[in-house]
Amino acid sequence: MSKLRFALIGCGRISKNHVGPLTEIPGAELVAVCDLVPERAQVWSKKFGIPSYTNYHTMLTHEQIDVVSILTPSGMHPFHAMDIMRRCRKHVVIEKPMALAWDDLAKMKATADECGVKIFPIYQNRYNKAVQQVRADLLSGALGKPMLGTVRVRWCRPQRYYDRDPWRGTWAMDGGALTNQGIHYLDLLQYLVGDVESVTARIATQLVTVEVEDTAVATLKFKNGALGVIEVTTAARPDDFEASISVLAGKGTAILTGIACNQLSTYTLDPSAAAKYSEEFPDAYGFGHWAFFRDVITDLQNQCPHPISFEEGTRAIRLLNSIYRSAEDNREVFLDDGLPSHNLGKPDSKLSALYETPITTE
Ligand SMILES: NC(=O)c1ccc[n+]([C@@H]2O[C@H](COP(=O)([O-])OP(=O)(O)OC[C@H]3O[C@@H](n4cnc5c(N)ncnc54)[C@H](O)[C@@H]3O)[C@@H](O)[C@H]2O)c1
Repeated sequence: MSKLRFALIGCGRISKNHVGPLTEIPGAELVAVCDLVPERAQVWSKKFGIPSYTNYHTMLTHEQIDVVSILTPSGMHPFHAMDIMRRCRKHVVIEKPMALAWDDLAKMKATADECGVKIFPIYQNRYNKAVQQVRADLLSGALGKPMLGTVRVRWCRPQRYYDRDPWRGTWAMDGGALTNQGIHYLDLLQYLVGDVESVTARIATQLVTVEVEDTAVATLKFKNGALGVIEVTTAARPDDFEASISVLAGKGTAILTGIACNQLSTYTLDPSAAAKYSEEFPDAYGFGHWAFFRDVITDLQNQCPHPISFEEGTRAIRLLNSIYRSAEDNREVFLDDGLPSHNLGKPDSKLSALYETPITTE
């Protein structure tokens, strides 16, 4: 079977986790890279002898591409994805969060369906061995009925992190600790425990000068009767400490710890599994992108649908918007009401203009 041809738009910090799998796994070929900042794309173009571009319209005109990975600032994901799907009819892989504003998701799905292409949202931590083991034992009933799920993210993002790029720390393009860092764990919590019914939350900006929150807390009620607690901060000092989830269920307890839920530190069903299902990660990005891209290829070769469907990808974004809405309105918010945040993903034409790419006729 011929290889699928991939290209990247955005060659910043996360690009290594796309370049790695796309140059290593069978069935994938990285054919071109693009960044507004030429030197960033040239790093990969020199390393792999592939063309680099600053204008993605030009790249998509000149190169034969099947799938585009969108690694641009979060608030631009819907714009870039819909542009590429509409204009060029390419499948898109979208880094987390695939959108900020709740309303954009329906537009993105409609565009993909109209154009006959697919959207693959990334939540690579779903592939962590610890997560897969606990999920399997929850699905089989071995762990029993979940009754309490907690998320604890204690990471360190000082002012210099937010000052690095204009998009960081803004409601239009980034969101705060819950969105940029916490989204993985909002996703995992629902992946393991189930859909959240309602939320009450508070957010605060404690140690940095930005629009968005660096600290958030929420209490949850799940549809299956479980309760939940979320604590996410990027105001931990002086370093990153943990991103953990605990699931307390009727027949046992699972505690996933480490920098990105990569260690199964407590597993009462099988204490020996704790070591077997723990992984060492070099950074919080982990290794999940490799398995994620294998599943993209399997899906596009019509062998098996991707386990993280578009709809799966929307669950964390709905919860995220509900948490913000609860904090903004100071009340309990029910997720089925579909109430968006007043702030997250609000348009900012000056910021968008920095990341829009002019159409060329080259
Ligand atoms: N899955 C993960 O664990 C993970 C980790 C880090 C970042 N991310 C996500 O990846 C995205 C990028 O994050 P990052 O940390 O790499 O950011 P970054 O700022 O380092 O990189 C973004 C790059 O996109 C480029 N860009 C912007 N608009 C463009 C355009 N129109 N055409 C070409 N290039 C353009 C910028 O020049 C920049 O180099 C964000 O949405 C972020 O949330 C995901």
